[in-house]
Amino acid sequence: SWTTASIVEEQVAAIAERVGEGRAICGLSGGVDSAVAAALVHRAIGDRLTCVFVDHGLLRAGERAQVEHDFVAATGVRLVTIDAREEFLGALAGVTDPEAKRKIIGGEFIRVFEKAERDLAAQGDYRYLVQGTLYPDVVESGGGAGTANIKSHHNVGGLPEDLDFELVEPLRLLFKDEVRRVGLELGLPETIVYRQPFPGPGLAIRVVGEVTGDRLDTLRAADAIAREELSLAGLDRDIWQCPVVLLADVRSVGVQGDGRTYGHPVVLRPVSSEDAMTADWTRLPYEVLERISTRVTNEVTGVTRVALDVTSKPPGTIEWE
Ligand code: XMP
Repeated sequence: SWTTASIVEEQVAAIAERVGEGRAICGLSGGVDSAVAAALVHRAIGDRLTCVFVDHGLLRAGERAQVEHDFVAATGVRLVTIDAREEFLGALAGVTDPEAKRKIIGGEFIRVFEKAERDLAAQGDYRYLVQGTLYPDVVESGGGAGTANIKSHHNVGGLPEDLDFELVEPLRLLFKDEVRRVGLELGLPETIVYRQPFPGPGLAIRVVGEVTGDRLDTLRAADAIAREELSLAGLDRDIWQCPVVLLADVRSVGVQGDGRTYGHPVVLRPVSSEDAMTADWTRLPYEVLERISTRVTNEVTGVTRVALDVTSKPPGTIEWE
């Protein structure tokens, strides 16, 4: 539309002006926001942008491939993938507090980018860091006038103080639906533009309790089943997102096959929303809930129970942590 085209034009001009002949790094999370921010900056400064994708081990099944193949095919950006699974898991060992997890992850992200910057330094001075921060992130992290700090989103409040970069945040005034329109305007495929939101701290804030490799594997398997069944039921565009949460510190008795089991519950958190500031729990069809429940308890070792979260936002946030 005219307005979307003019948002793109204005932002591209503003970025070109601000970055000048400088170079920028953009961390891709696999989500819509960072993809659209990167595509905008790419349009403004071309190959002086390098995208960095961090595999922190907190990703969902298939996400790394989606970034490495689909996004690169659509935009032609230069992409470096960094495998930092061991570092992130190491830093998270023993940590259960949600805010502590977010701060640690934010800090690790920046350190990985700074290392990437050093590695890229031979090609020029990467002074700018592009982030896909949206207006609701700014407001909820206490960046907006007169608002309380509800959660420190990793890309706003969790930054360490010794940050070496100047931030470029071209989506800072936009809501999600506007970001999607900008993405389409920039030629990104619908598979990326209509991807449901996924938080920067990834599955770490969906494991309630300490984050370990085994717990992440369990959650990843349950999440993949839920996503597959929701897609098969044609519900992708009806729900805003459906976090699957592993209650790793809770154990529950089950009877599976011939014997008693003692595993963990997962919680389905399907929500409907316009902009994530408020949300309602989605009334999913019982047949879909039944299929997810049956498959998760049959196919995922260690999960004995599937529960449904029927809390709206407020008072519940969308993510559990
Ligand atoms: P909450 O849980 O605050 O989530 O109701 C609102 C929306 O934001 C996503 N979310 C995040 N996104 N970094 C992000 O990029 C974060 O730290 C973060 N925390 C939550 C969440 O998935 C939902 O769409």
